[in-house]
Amino acid sequence: MSKPKGSEQQAPHVPVLLAEVLEALQPLEGARILDGTFGAGGYSRALLEAGASVVALDRDPSVLPHAEALGAEFASRFKFVAGTFSNLDQLSDGPVDGVVLDIGVSSMQLDQAERGFSFMQEGPLDMRMSSEGESAADLVNGLEEADLANLLFAFGEERKSRRIAHSIVAARAAQPISTTTQLARLIEKSVGRKPGDAHPATRSFQALRIAVNGEFDQLVEGLFASERLLTEGGRLAVVTFHSLEDRIVKRFFDPEKGAPTQSRHLPQAVQEASRWTRAGKALKASSAETARNPRSRSATLRSGRRTAAPPRVLSYAGLGVPMSRGAA
Ligand SMILES: C[S@@+](CC[C@H](N)C(=O)[O-])C[C@H]1O[C@@H](n2cnc3c(N)ncnc32)[C@H](O)[C@@H]1O
Repeated sequence: MSKPKGSEQQAPHVPVLLAEVLEALQPLEGARILDGTFGAGGYSRALLEAGASVVALDRDPSVLPHAEALGAEFASRFKFVAGTFSNLDQLSDGPVDGVVLDIGVSSMQLDQAERGFSFMQEGPLDMRMSSEGESAADLVNGLEEADLANLLFAFGEERKSRRIAHSIVAARAAQPISTTTQLARLIEKSVGRKPGDAHPATRSFQALRIAVNGEFDQLVEGLFASERLLTEGGRLAVVTFHSLEDRIVKRFFDPEKGAPTQSRHLPQAVQEASRWTRAGKALKASSAETARNPRSRSATLRSGRRTAAPPRVLSYAGLGVPMSRGAA
């Protein structure tokens, strides 16, 4: 049996809100579940141990040893497919009873300095989960100043986005910005740092990571793909780590929340059949979990059950998705 490389030495990813995710998915013996964000396989393992069959996806090829270890243990009940969850309905072997998405980066990705996700460690300014396509360095060194500022504001809610973009453009004229700590120091110099506050580069790093990995597009497409794939009564559980993502999930489950207030001069909109029941309520980690695993502090779980209503056509309308990078 192949062992996950380095998993013994490196702190493994601790699954967040695991008990709550299992409660939401109810993985009965024989249930078919799709885990769209395999990571170190914490959710997949718990689902398999509960008797379900699991198809797991991840866009990061470095998770393969973890997948091989689960494959050796659970044989025909587990299958791993390398790919993104935006097209999970095409990567699944057929309809499923449950889908789980645990959005964002894993502890392994954050802890590997050479992946470039963390401003705390010196590494190349990369941030690509799949190691393909444009890197964070490409954006930081290539975007126009106004586009860079818009990106930092839209994806990181960085209020000092213009000042930061201006400093980046001035600095890169002398020399390309190629490392995480180089960018973090530049941002700190540009906007200052108050004692007790989060590092001033936190929001910019979030924004760049979201842009590099197309995370909002992935989320929206993954939610609609789940709507197409799940059987009637099937369950979708989504764990997010910041308010921009959570807003998208909340409005997806309950489109009324994102709908503009109706003008009384317009005819009443036809009430559409709901695609989801028991949906929308936000669950947070208990104080015991946050004490054990500080990463769980910012996690929110929302879940819902699929009705028999036909799936919707994918639409960004009303979901509150910050502008796409193309428009930045
Ligand atoms: C927070 S971790 C998941 C941890 C997992 N639940 C566990 O218990 O080990 C997120 C994982 O999802 C993967 N990921 C993020 N976005 C993805 C996408 N759009 N498609 C497929 N995998 C994605 C990342 O590469 C990462 O391995």
